[in-house]
Amino acid sequence: MRIALSTGGGDAPGLNAVIRSATLAAIRRGWEVVGIRDGFNGLMFPDHYPLGNGMVTLDYEAVRGIAHRGGTILGSTNRGNPCHFPVRQDDGTIVYEDRTDHLVALFREAGIDALVSIGGDGSLTIADRMHQAGMRVIGVPKTIDNDLDRTSVTFGFDTAVSIATELIDRVFTTATSHSRVFVVEVMGRYAGWIALHAGMAAGVHAILIPEIPFSLEPVAEMIRHRERAGSPYAVIVVAEGAAPSGGQRAVMSTSVDAAERLGGIGEQVARKLTELTGHETRTTVLGHVVRGGTPSAQDRLLGNRFGAAAVRALADGQEGVMVALHDTEVEYVPLVEAIGRLRTVPIDSDIVETARDLGICLGD
Ligand code: F6P
Repeated sequence: MRIALSTGGGDAPGLNAVIRSATLAAIRRGWEVVGIRDGFNGLMFPDHYPLGNGMVTLDYEAVRGIAHRGGTILGSTNRGNPCHFPVRQDDGTIVYEDRTDHLVALFREAGIDALVSIGGDGSLTIADRMHQAGMRVIGVPKTIDNDLDRTSVTFGFDTAVSIATELIDRVFTTATSHSRVFVVEVMGRYAGWIALHAGMAAGVHAILIPEIPFSLEPVAEMIRHRERAGSPYAVIVVAEGAAPSGGQRAVMSTSVDAAERLGGIGEQVARKLTELTGHETRTTVLGHVVRGGTPSAQDRLLGNRFGAAAVRALADGQEGVMVALHDTEVEYVPLVEAIGRLRTVPIDSDIVETARDLGICLGD
């Protein structure tokens, strides 16, 4: 048995723990393991890898001491979806090609029997297409946004929340010292889990998430109220995908081969709050900082559990499933059920109710 590991989409702390754990579990069964570089690029575009390392052998030596390292030793990409691959024509127009069959054929030529695809919604959708095209695939859910349906949690989220919380704590001390309003923008494309969890943990005064279209008047009123009560500062966390009621989310740029790049909502909110309250306001964008660096113990552990579980699934003859955490136990769910539906913050959940009970303004 020869299996391949691939990491796709935005990196998340804990990816290397998955790679190490899947590799060790496979070697234990006498299997060979290879890693594909940069999603599937190492296999699809070997010429881009002048040292011939588009595919790397994963053995004991290759995975030694990597679990505590952030990022992914295999590299990743969120460009050039092989199932919807953009090809520029002579006249400048873009035509999208489905290269799934070609990719599956490349895996066969490379003597690979099965693929463990570690990724978010985009990568798992590709994995599902590959499975339909005849490839044995196991999916492993990954995203700091924690927005994948059918798993209670994804690795990367815990680290992102911890780092965001620490950074918001730091913003607090400068906000109080200068009696300023600070708006902290965090990642969270479709779901506000990071903003909500980190914001609540840090004890901020307002949290704006994509699930609740916001108005800034209640936020401004909260700031005025705090000022009257002798606390002339406030910290507001906004998820990058949050949008004003009846308005659009802030898109920084678009491209033909990747999802829209979001960003800028924090600055928009800050400017408007200054207009509404006359208060001095500053914006801090945490961005990729919460995604990089050392994974938390919990994310390493979850990565270990998911990686080994993916190999056990293959050993048991399973395919077309995603490893998931259900309450405290690992389980397998059909890939097709895991994709295409996001797990956003339920606005009637206890965590949202708790935020309201704490007096946190949610912009509604
Ligand atoms: O999906 C995880 C995520 O961090 C999103 O929150 C964010 O919108 C996106 O990745 C950013 O991607 P990139 O690394 O391409 O800027």
